[in-house]
Amino acid sequence: GHGEGIVIAIDGPSGSGKSSTAKGVARARELRYLDTGAMYRAMTWWMIQHQVDVADAAAVAARSAEPVITMGTDPEAPTVRVDGTDVARAIRTDEVTGRVSTVSAVPEVRERLVALQRDIIAEARRDAAGIVVEGRDITTVVAPEAPVRLYLTASAQARAVRRSKENRTSDVAATEAALALRDRLDSSRALSPLTQAEDSLELDSSGLSLDEVVALVVKLADEAAERT
Ligand code: DC
Repeated sequence: GHGEGIVIAIDGPSGSGKSSTAKGVARARELRYLDTGAMYRAMTWWMIQHQVDVADAAAVAARSAEPVITMGTDPEAPTVRVDGTDVARAIRTDEVTGRVSTVSAVPEVRERLVALQRDIIAEARRDAAGIVVEGRDITTVVAPEAPVRLYLTASAQARAVRRSKENRTSDVAATEAALALRDRLDSSRALSPLTQAEDSLELDSSGLSLDEVVALVVKLADEAAERT
């Protein structure tokens, strides 16, 4: 490289294994890690706390510059803070999960969080070996120039089984339905919908173990690092 850290961009639907993969790759190559979904969740949590009607896009837009969202990018212990409060657990509630698609469709919200994400990426490229960034629009909007761009997928069934385990629920069918609804919302919004970038690599993780997926992405990262 040229003294500039590498960027690995990973997009995909909920439950495709993005987070575990991104963290595993960051650990393996001592890179930083950024979960952009956690930032949209943090924004949503703040709106709920401040009794903003999230269905009112103008109200959400008007207040979107207020919360101070701070991300810790160590893959061993990623953190998310809003106005200094640790919200790691609070952003995983059903209430936040049910509203985050609405909040993340507001242009002012995306503009602000994308700018913040680019700042975090620039800092990691300067001060570290690089960063693994996961989300819905990383390969298309946030870091389209990243040398490694992946679109991670898995069958609806595989994703529902994984998410049910994470959420400690045995109702796989209900989980699958909730995932399908959120994917539809995230893929159909006007601004930066979840789409596969034309030149990104699609990787279906359904039949693979986490270790296998991580090893594959690490290999791609090493090859990309050699090219630059
Ligand atoms: O990855 P996640 O399920 O925690 O993401 C939560 C929501 O945030 C998801 O429903 C869509 C939105 N999101 C987004 O719009 N853009 C991103 N880069 C990441 C997440």
